[in-house]
Amino acid sequence: MRVLVVGNGGREHAIIQSLKRSKKIKEIYAIAGNGGIANDAITVDMDVKAVDKVADWAVENKIDFAVVAPDDPLVLGAVNLLEEKGIPCFGPRKEAAIIEGSKIFSKNLMKKYGIPTANYETFSDMQSAFDYLEKCDMPIVVKADGLALGKGVIIANTLAEAKDAVKSMMEDKVFGASGSNVVIEEFLTGPEVSVLSFTDGKTLVPMISSMDHKRALDNDEGLNTGGMGTVAPNPYYTESVAKECMEKIFLPTMEAMNKEGRTFKGCLYFGLMLTPKGPKVIEYNCRFGDPETQVVLPLLKTDLFEIMQAVAQERLAEVDVKFKKKSACCVIMASKGYPEKYEKGYEITFKTSRKNVFVAGAKLDGDKLLTNGGRVLGVTAVSFNLKQAIRKAYKKVNKINFENAYYRKDIGKRALKAYGEER
Ligand code: AMP
Ligand code: GLY
Repeated sequence: MRVLVVGNGGREHAIIQSLKRSKKIKEIYAIAGNGGIANDAITVDMDVKAVDKVADWAVENKIDFAVVAPDDPLVLGAVNLLEEKGIPCFGPRKEAAIIEGSKIFSKNLMKKYGIPTANYETFSDMQSAFDYLEKCDMPIVVKADGLALGKGVIIANTLAEAKDAVKSMMEDKVFGASGSNVVIEEFLTGPEVSVLSFTDGKTLVPMISSMDHKRALDNDEGLNTGGMGTVAPNPYYTESVAKECMEKIFLPTMEAMNKEGRTFKGCLYFGLMLTPKGPKVIEYNCRFGDPETQVVLPLLKTDLFEIMQAVAQERLAEVDVKFKKKSACCVIMASKGYPEKYEKGYEITFKTSRKNVFVAGAKLDGDKLLTNGGRVLGVTAVSFNLKQAIRKAYKKVNKINFENAYYRKDIGKRALKAYGEER
């Protein structure tokens, strides 16, 4: 089998390292991949958003199966094009990817089908949004409707801040067209949990839960980033919470998408907040999370390719999806200054095995690997408990060097505390 993975970050590297373990796969190609992914796949330089070109390339190169990982190509219909050309895919068609592509769509879906989420109103007109804000309690959350690289969410503590947020999205267009419409929603509190799931529209299998660390600095301070580290499982996600989520959120979402004629096939990501009034959906993503994938897939026991093929063929019910009863921790090594200004082009050296080291932003220069992005590496370790996984991950981080490296020192600390430190 010749498999193509579309995407170029740490998440895609984790998917590729997992797929490599499958005996059914002969060759893995990555569009566009990166200098680190080139260690595990054949990389092809191409813009992932040029979905027509990607589909044509896949046909010309006799690809047997494609995995489309990032939100942009999914929302742009990469899977539709590939399937129309006869290439089976893992990933939702664009009619279903809208669950992430439009926050207004997903909020209205949840309202229509009674799926718990923050109360909200949507606006396409700035003055109406301002009038509404006058009546709201603070803090309040303002979200751009469309894809905004995970940055289109502003938590406003005062009315003035909230109005500024609306203006920046609707008038100043800081998130481009994605801010033409906004969602204003109730501020929720409680621990956050990420749950990725496999679904073929008939069956939904949640993967092991995880916890992201979105802020740039220790103790959850500083700017929001794409994610500075993850641990799995998430200690707040107990068996009873899992049962409640399955009944009230996961299956109802799968069924709601079917009823809307938008059957979702692929990885459906639930960003949840465990509020005092029960679990609520903060966001849906139409794809694997990054860097959640970097802790979830190293714990997967079952052959990932077997699962992906079963999802594409709508026979997920036949596969026994199993996870190791272990813990994982991923520490993101970033370029100092991320998520704002940072320098790149520094050589990365490894005094450790590169297994479970997922490269997000690096390029090859001859046989040297150079930093080439804000988030550079996701360094994952797996162990029998969380404490050991954290220790192992940081030990590995200490054996990887590049100039200007920055990483949080407290990944997993909050999770350990929730366990009562003993694990
Ligand atoms: P999102 O891009 O929708 O995941 O939002 C980014 C982050 O903003 C989330 O991970 C939460 O920490 C926070 N957030 C989003 N919506 C809310 C909400 N309604 N209440 C409190 N925090 C929120
Ligand atoms: N880690 C959050 C996301 O992938 O959107």
